[in-house]
Amino acid sequence: MADFGDKVVYQIYPKSFRDTNGDGFGDIPGVIEKLDYLQELGVDYLWLTPFFPSPQRDNGYDVADYRSISPQFGTMEDLENLIRQSRERGMGIMLDMVFNHTSTRHEWFQKALAGDEEYQNYYIFKEGTPDHAPTNWKSKFGGTAWEYVPELKKWYLHLYDVTQADLNWDNPGVREELKEILRFWKEKGIRAFRFDVINLVSKPGQMEDDFEGDGRRFYSDGPHIHAYLKELVKDAGIADFVTVGEMSSTSLEHCIRYSAPEEKELSMCFNFHHLKVDYKDGDKWALNPVDYKKLKELFVEWQTGMQEGGGWNALFWCNHDQPRIVSRMGNEGIYWKESAKMLAGMIHFMRGTPYIYQGEEIGMQNAHYPSIERYRDVESLNYYQILLEEGKTKEEALEILAARSRDNGRTPMQWNGERYGGFSGEEPWIPMSAAFRKEITVEAQQNDEDSVLAFYKKLIAMRKKYPVIAKGEISFLETETDLVLAYRRELGEQQMIVICNLDGRKQRVIVPGERSGWRILLENYKGREIPLEEMYTMEPYEFMVLGNVK
Ligand code: GLC
Ligand code: CA
Repeated sequence: MADFGDKVVYQIYPKSFRDTNGDGFGDIPGVIEKLDYLQELGVDYLWLTPFFPSPQRDNGYDVADYRSISPQFGTMEDLENLIRQSRERGMGIMLDMVFNHTSTRHEWFQKALAGDEEYQNYYIFKEGTPDHAPTNWKSKFGGTAWEYVPELKKWYLHLYDVTQADLNWDNPGVREELKEILRFWKEKGIRAFRFDVINLVSKPGQMEDDFEGDGRRFYSDGPHIHAYLKELVKDAGIADFVTVGEMSSTSLEHCIRYSAPEEKELSMCFNFHHLKVDYKDGDKWALNPVDYKKLKELFVEWQTGMQEGGGWNALFWCNHDQPRIVSRMGNEGIYWKESAKMLAGMIHFMRGTPYIYQGEEIGMQNAHYPSIERYRDVESLNYYQILLEEGKTKEEALEILAARSRDNGRTPMQWNGERYGGFSGEEPWIPMSAAFRKEITVEAQQNDEDSVLAFYKKLIAMRKKYPVIAKGEISFLETETDLVLAYRRELGEQQMIVICNLDGRKQRVIVPGERSGWRILLENYKGREIPLEEMYTMEPYEFMVLGNVK
């Protein structure tokens, strides 16, 4: 049994967390400044997205040097302070390793460009003529996945931005370099890693056109992925670290293998299937209402499937690539608080390790930017153009971005009610959310027992207190409607039942089971009756945990 079931990870996007020197960019000293807050929240690990030297084309996911700190974020000394001061407070730092690609500014790529064949073999270069790319694969940020370098008469592969060149993992020298980077950070006291799009690193030997899709079926969970991960983990000596792999378009079968302890690959996996239930035919850039039937089926499949296969899930709604969950599946109006709590509770009681993304714990909402000038994200700016080229009006394109842009999750953290939310005294690199208001700040919620923040603290505290949450079995209960999700957790005699109304309308449910010795352990409406076996009417977004635990 995994021993990190009682742990909670908090994700920090440093650029938007807290700016201490007034340049409008969040920095590492800003994270240090907020350590007391994070300790009080009760989290165990702080995952920081990349702060390495980078041209920032993709906000740091274009790494130019994996062993130092970008001056924008601070110094190595700042990071060492952060590691030490976190440790003193019982928290570990989780570093974000971007190993599928490097920035084209990285010294390896620069040497490749200068004609060094050894370094060309670090990347995926293919000879060819400018009129014909090696395959028809698409970049995940729009357009072709290949770029021609006339001086070399070669194309290179970039699954993301043109400045993010894919590494050639089939080259043992590349794998050795990456292990060295992990050893370097291990020396610095790091004991947890997140691996960016790690299931995309093993490309097929023969690359062919994809006439059914964008090419992803050839390289997602690619041919040698499990062997490469095992080797990396073993040789870098990180088998007993907390590791999480970000898995793009993956499958349950592969995630079981990535995370089952006996495989000695990773501790757990992020998958994104549950965050595509509002895509239209899989297209992120086409709006659709949330398909609750599908959402429920996916939770049942992944929760019970990972349990049966011995794998371990990372539980999450939000990150720096996703819109805010309360805006997406909850309510921004009168049920803002109730829905934010319900959505949190819904995943925190599932089997896995929960991740909280900065601002989620205070119910932060989407950016609601009224014009394209406010957007910063390379993907959003690319797709805005693509949508216009496809014939959408500016209004339509902006409406799609408002729902889908990654910038929704990147607006400055709202600490207090000042002009820039206490993020900075100066104008931030990215505008505040237009939904920013006093109620949605740490300051306003800190001393309020009924706040979203207080609710997150309870969720974390309960996980530490009741082993049934960290270790119990999960099974789902039948409900008459897909708008109600209910499940049971069990560990020996200990039991909990979690019931969530996913909708803004009342729902009627019957909860099975005997109730003697049971009580309500957590709820988002005050003073509810314990629903006996008769019909119970749930309020909009009502959430309740019942149990017999002491
Ligand atoms: C991951 C990151 C995302 C980045 C991409 C390419 O999905 O979370 O922010 O753009 O990888 O590195
Ligand atoms: Ca700064």
